[in-house]
Amino acid sequence: MKYIAPSVLAADFGNLQSAVEMLNQSQADWIHVDVMDGVFVPNISFGMPVIKAIQQHAQKPLDVHLMITQPERYLSDFQKLGADRITVHYEACPHLHRTVQQIKELGCKAGVAINPHTSVNLLENILGDIDLVLIMSVNPGFGGQSFIENTYQKLSDLRQLMQRTSSSVLVEVDGGVSDQNATQLSQAGVNAFVAGSFVFKSVDSIATIAHLKQKVQV
Ligand code: DX5
Ligand code: ZN
Repeated sequence: MKYIAPSVLAADFGNLQSAVEMLNQSQADWIHVDVMDGVFVPNISFGMPVIKAIQQHAQKPLDVHLMITQPERYLSDFQKLGADRITVHYEACPHLHRTVQQIKELGCKAGVAINPHTSVNLLENILGDIDLVLIMSVNPGFGGQSFIENTYQKLSDLRQLMQRTSSSVLVEVDGGVSDQNATQLSQAGVNAFVAGSFVFKSVDSIATIAHLKQKVQV
């Protein structure tokens, strides 16, 4: 199964309701919600009141990507705000196993994200406990950056690790995803595709999502 997860970070925040309603009408599978704290990443995006507004209109699962330090402090808040899956960063969690268990105890799917410089092999001892690995294909913090080509190598390493450990997790890629790389990423084993600028900066976002969805069916 292939999932398209448009990131509302690239939406017009003055018209957030219509952005979410557009996603409801589209072939998007998840709504990707990027939370940035200005500490883990050099940017601040939005917090609970904005997510509440998204959730009030959303008819699709919320895929919450926490680019924050000490995410364990807020996990239950995100769950109450309707998060379907919560992804935390490997680099932000010294007690990652505990954090993952907390996410699962809340009834959410648990994901772990890794930055471009972080080896997928560091996930060996957590892979069996999680539902999703998010490979950052840009440095987290901003939308609209260029896709890092080394992502393909990491996807190949992750497939090998999954085979070696007999684990099955969903593989999500985030950053610089467009119709130029979606097919190749899908062939490399990606299940979930986050796209911010490519969707929201296009003239017809609904058609762009449909186009991406078609590109990843390989
Ligand atoms: C980056 C965020 C991404 C971002 C992707 O830190 O995690 O989800 O919104 O934006 P694009 O698709 O524009 O690279
Ligand atoms: Zn993201």
